[in-house]
Amino acid sequence: MNADSLLDLAPVVPVVVLDDADAAVPLARALVAGGLPVIELTLRTPAALPAIERVAAEVPDAVVGAGTVVRRADAEQAAKAGARFLVSPGCTPALRAAMADTGVPFLPGVATASEALALLEEGVTALKFFPAEAAGGIPYLKALGGPLPQVRFCPTGGVTVANAPGYLALPNVGCVGGTWLTPRDAIAAGDWARIEELARAAAALR
Ligand code: 3PG
Repeated sequence: MNADSLLDLAPVVPVVVLDDADAAVPLARALVAGGLPVIELTLRTPAALPAIERVAAEVPDAVVGAGTVVRRADAEQAAKAGARFLVSPGCTPALRAAMADTGVPFLPGVATASEALALLEEGVTALKFFPAEAAGGIPYLKALGGPLPQVRFCPTGGVTVANAPGYLALPNVGCVGGTWLTPRDAIAAGDWARIEELARAAAALR
């Protein structure tokens, strides 16, 4: 798998904030059962790295990656934990190099044509578009597709079950990401049936 093919594995990538690493395995199983095998665990909580480790070891059908990679150490620790991909909200030359050095496929975040061009110069053609809705949403991404047809995006940030179909209809969108599939209250309550249902609805979006 490379970063470009990562965009084709599922229409929606759940972006997960986990408070408790014990929730990771049942959560991942629910998402996979609902039809969403690609899971981004954000490095925003101390639970994230152990959660990645457990999902990588115990849920073979899941493709688990790390989100919110903002420093070299994040990229290194996530790769060591078994992350199959890395996602960053934005990108700098140092962060791009750090992610590339891990050998793990990565999706760097961009919000402008210049940022996309800087990564294109390095041969990176699969990008996260963040924060999608705040940065201009569907019309903005459609406009980027004119001069930059070789770049494909995973928009995240404000993407919902309601607006996801509009993004997925764009030729330069491979998949979308969002937190709506894994509400914090459902995770805290261990309501895996609800999460599986949300995943099933999202998997049917394309
Ligand atoms: C991200 O890091 O991609 C965003 O936090 C997604 O968040 P949202 O789906 O809640 O907008």
